[in-house]
Amino acid sequence: MAEVRLEKLCKTYDKTVKAVQDFSLTISDREFVVLVGPSGCGKSTTLRMIAGLEEISSGELYIDGQLVNDVPPKERGVSMVFQNYALFPYMTVFDNIAFGLNLRKEPKAKIREKVYEAAEILNITDLLQRKPKALSGGQRQRVAIGRAIVRQPKLFLMDEPLSNLDAKLRNQMRTELIKLRQKMDSTFVYVTHDQTEAMTLGDRIVVMHEGRIMQADAPQKVYKAPANRFVAGFIGTPQMNFLRAQLIYSEATWKIRLVDKNIVLPESFLDRFLESPEPGQDVILGIRPDTIRVTSPDSDQLSGELEFFELLGSSMNLHIRIGAEKAVISTPSEGCQSYIRAGEKIGITFPLEAIHLFHPQTGTALMK
Ligand SMILES: Nc1ncnc2c1ncn2[C@@H]1O[C@H](COP(=O)(O)OP(=O)(O)OP(=O)(O)O)[C@@H](O)[C@H]1O
Ligand SMILES: [Mg+2]
Repeated sequence: MAEVRLEKLCKTYDKTVKAVQDFSLTISDREFVVLVGPSGCGKSTTLRMIAGLEEISSGELYIDGQLVNDVPPKERGVSMVFQNYALFPYMTVFDNIAFGLNLRKEPKAKIREKVYEAAEILNITDLLQRKPKALSGGQRQRVAIGRAIVRQPKLFLMDEPLSNLDAKLRNQMRTELIKLRQKMDSTFVYVTHDQTEAMTLGDRIVVMHEGRIMQADAPQKVYKAPANRFVAGFIGTPQMNFLRAQLIYSEATWKIRLVDKNIVLPESFLDRFLESPEPGQDVILGIRPDTIRVTSPDSDQLSGELEFFELLGSSMNLHIRIGAEKAVISTPSEGCQSYIRAGEKIGITFPLEAIHLFHPQTGTALMK
């Protein structure tokens, strides 16, 4: 079992680079937590601090209740898989996987049993006598994971283990990881900048930005109820649209003014506000591209002009201009191409439930 508790973990490099700031999170036993965020946001640094490969500048790290800030890596019960898995080129796959166990001087029969067990899980039993150069990228990656599995870590740390693979292999390995996880009793902390990996693998996603946690929640929650504009923009493709809007109060009703139209807000909508809105307050309206519907233009409705579109197979992205704002609509391509042309005026509707509102300066979500 492994519960990991990070309390206000900070890492400062060279006295000035704040790589990780006030990182607090409790990871439950057997949980699969994914750290996700843009390049340089501090994911690897966080993982390396958990592994003990990086000194903690301040804050506390507990594994199963034990303060481990000063415990050396090999005594933490942790295995780590890196992006650039270094396999030993002159050793067979078997010896590569057995390497750590040989170092520990485990009995030969025991080593053999563990290597075969891991190879079985990873579907590489046929490859045990080969050398790494005779393997594909995905197979090499599995060997690297095998080397970590045989040590039976209570805590598995993985830093972008799939980033060297092509799209097809990545999908395949992602499925393998889901299966692997079901067969192991370990806790996983997994780093990626790929949101699909994060959404499909994680019990919980931790979105990071500039060394800080922006949100830590279940994948669906992060997608449906982003805590701020950063998370809203980071998770989901195409990206959520952000449009400048204003909250107004007139004729005893609240409305959102968007470009030249007022959208009336029903009472039930107002319950979703975290704080009472102020009349005239500027907001950023967030709306996901696949929740917008295209209609024929009429004068009552919001309308825009199609600038160009991208056909992506079963769906297409329409890039539109609404007054001074720009937005993308993602829509099934079936039946759409025949009548859609650049320069055309189109009507736009979206359900009110699909709207997110953010503070224009801080980016914090204004609604639940
Ligand atoms: N040894 C180091 N010395 C100084 N600065 C460092 C060092 N290692 C990392 N940094 C800086 O710390 C910040 C976080 O780096 P980190 O490697 O944790 O990012 P990351 O989220 O893993 O990014 P990527 O997705 O590119 O791997 C970056 O600004 C990076 O330049
Ligand atoms: Mg990294």
